[in-house]
Amino acid sequence: MKSVEEADVAGKRVIVRCDFDVPVKSGKILDDTRIRDSLSTLKYLLSKGAKLFLISKLGRPKGKDPSLSLEIIVETLSNYLGKKIIFQKDLNERDNDEVILLDNLRFWLEEEDGDENFGKKLATFGDLYVNECFATSHRNDASIAQLPKFLPSYAGIRLLKEIRELEIVLKSPARPLIAIIGGAKLETKLPAIFNLAKIADKVLVGGKLMFEVERRSLPENVVVAHDDVETKDIGDESIELFSESISKAKMVVWNGPMGVFEDDSYMKGTKEIAKAVTDSDAYSVIGGGDTISALNKLDLISKIKFVSTGGGAMLEFLAGKTLPGLKALE
Ligand code: 3PG
Repeated sequence: MKSVEEADVAGKRVIVRCDFDVPVKSGKILDDTRIRDSLSTLKYLLSKGAKLFLISKLGRPKGKDPSLSLEIIVETLSNYLGKKIIFQKDLNERDNDEVILLDNLRFWLEEEDGDENFGKKLATFGDLYVNECFATSHRNDASIAQLPKFLPSYAGIRLLKEIRELEIVLKSPARPLIAIIGGAKLETKLPAIFNLAKIADKVLVGGKLMFEVERRSLPENVVVAHDDVETKDIGDESIELFSESISKAKMVVWNGPMGVFEDDSYMKGTKEIAKAVTDSDAYSVIGGGDTISALNKLDLISKIKFVSTGGGAMLEFLAGKTLPGLKALE
């Protein structure tokens, strides 16, 4: 996989698959972290004399849905880049301006279908391709898995950092390594629990998963919370048990809250585990939208050493799977 910093981009039009999938409410961006995470690559490319054709999805539309138009990010992105942005709504226009942003990729159904011809069509808008969207790299979307077949393709600066951080967890972790997996969606989390059990010293399981996993089938070093608060949070004994392991950790990787933290009555488990992680000497890596929201709510996010932009992508990477978007860059 080649870094964008190895590409000869001067005078070229570079298609960058960005992650502008920001949370939006009543026409306002609630959190622009994902936009900021793309800036190192975008500013680098502009400084080297490239023109940009930016593509991203926003939300999960099934076809055109004006409430999910990417036009909403134009002003913020333009301010960060200090550049005028031409917003392009369809694939018939061909502008030659320095920075062009295409509307939400998922307005075209072929995107989520992973349609090869759609990938080929997108490729006609540039000379090179850069993937700067780790969070969707586990999908087969055309812009992720097909488009790179048709152009010289590179990894973005932030995407490479994600891979480096998660590879350390899998290949050369500081020990003890403690993995914490919570939230729901057993089917997406079980492969990560099994793979992490091979690598980590302990895997701690909380959240709704504690009721969903079949305890007897788990490896010995997987510890499932055993007491709960009205089935919506882990109980005090589990908090103590988990915190004890975390306090000795040299590295912690965490995806998924311990309970329904959005409700203050069931926030204690997530709060105490977050405190244990941030009070320990461990190098901490967290990911997943809910985990990030919880740490933000607790005002502890700045104490986390690396916050992954990927939720599902992080879990699949930790499960040892090859992500289609990364494979396409090889
Ligand atoms: C995410 O936000 O988790 C990724 O961008 C994947 O989105 P998707 O679940 O809509 O494919």
